[in-house]
Amino acid sequence: MIIAIVNSKGGVGKSTIAVHLAGHLSEQGYSVTLADCDAQGSSSEWIAEAAPKVKAVRLTSRDDILNNLPTLGSEADFVVADGPGSDADTSRALLLRADFAVVPCKASMLEVRALAQATEVLRQSQSIRDGHPKAVIALSMVGKNYRLTRDMKEAAAALDLPLAKTAISLRQIYADAPGQGALVWGLGARGREAADEIRSLFRELLPERKAKKRKTPKGRGRLAKRKR
Ligand SMILES: Nc1ncnc2c1ncn2[C@@H]1O[C@H](COP(=O)(O)OP(=O)(O)O)[C@@H](O)[C@H]1O
Ligand SMILES: [Mg+2]
Repeated sequence: MIIAIVNSKGGVGKSTIAVHLAGHLSEQGYSVTLADCDAQGSSSEWIAEAAPKVKAVRLTSRDDILNNLPTLGSEADFVVADGPGSDADTSRALLLRADFAVVPCKASMLEVRALAQATEVLRQSQSIRDGHPKAVIALSMVGKNYRLTRDMKEAAAALDLPLAKTAISLRQIYADAPGQGALVWGLGARGREAADEIRSLFRELLPERKAKKRKTPKGRGRLAKRKR
């Protein structure tokens, strides 16, 4: 499954969510590739330190993505693609290949107003591909006293994009994690609340995966015992 984290705006939390999602799925026992599609290459460096089991690949051009993403997808259980900022060609290529898209959006009216533009490439792809990739908006950097206004819900609804129930809060620990070469759940008690919320976002986005994961080790254990 190829999951693209996209928003043509920079600084909305794409790399933060992509690296944590790749690390989370890897810790669940899946084989995971992080496709770093941002020319800056920061998420591939971060994941190499924070979750070395995840294979990191840089795909920085439209043709790189179109040509290589399907193979990467067939070689791993999950490919998490960290999308570029303003490079519409790269984003378009990614969305033409992705099975599912997560659109991080900063929780402010300004950002929500810009959402139509930030998701234009997504809608192009959905129109070409008969509704694919399915996409969900994930609010990120939500301030303490922030309430989801009706305006925001309406903006998402007008674009026909569902809004994830779980939002990611604005917390210093997320900004500290890359410098520490870690994921928030690797940063001890300070990271606990962030870890809980971001994992609950991932469970909401990929609910069926949770069930699959629980069955496999149990089943194997039982078989192994019977053989002995
Ligand atoms: N929930 C958050 N709370 C606080 N800081 C965050 C949060 N998410 C991301 N950041 C920080 O904001 C900046 C932009 O985030 P990043 O994930 O790099 O966005 P993008 O990949 O969309 O450009 C980075 O410095 C990052 O560490
Ligand atoms: Mg980024």
